[in-house]
Amino acid sequence: MKIKDKEFALYLTENKLNERCKELGRVITADFKDKDPLFLSVLNGSFMFLSDLIRYVGFNMEINFIKLASYQKDQSSGDVKEIIGITGELAGRHVLVIEDIVDTGTTCRYLRMMLQDKKAASVSIAAMFLKPDMFLNQYPVKYVGFEIPNQFVVGYGLDYDGYGRNLKDLYQIKHR
Ligand code: IMP
Repeated sequence: MKIKDKEFALYLTENKLNERCKELGRVITADFKDKDPLFLSVLNGSFMFLSDLIRYVGFNMEINFIKLASYQKDQSSGDVKEIIGITGELAGRHVLVIEDIVDTGTTCRYLRMMLQDKKAASVSIAAMFLKPDMFLNQYPVKYVGFEIPNQFVVGYGLDYDGYGRNLKDLYQIKHR
């Protein structure tokens, strides 16, 4: 499969992704059913994971969206900027952050600090994909769909240069 100048190979099928959403949905239901959590979906990439996951969560929840951009100043430090912020009260809320993929963990770290600053009762992170080889964060990601190698992936909400988010399977870059 080709997107722009890059070749990609099928890596995880729609069926596998869906089965994993079901399992995560069951665990999240058990953990949060009495907590009235706020689901905070990180745009753009998490829209597909969010929409699949919430079908398997067995309670009514409030959903909010946030859009962040990260600027890599050098190899080790990333700076994050809020483009669309959160509306509404966070103090006292149990927040479940919904991420497409956690790579270095810079985005997670920013969100955790920001939510703790706003006095959230608790902050947990759910990510469909985690690249453990790149992860620099001291806080674990509590709900992980799949741990994947440090290779660029596309589909299931993730893009290459703006394209490929609509693909229902996950594809991994091919190195020629
Ligand atoms: P982090 O802040 O380094 O954890 O980066 C997270 C963000 O980087 C994700 O939300 C994605 O937007 C982007 N990203 C990281 N790895 C990939 C990938 O393999 N494909 C597409 N986007 C990626």
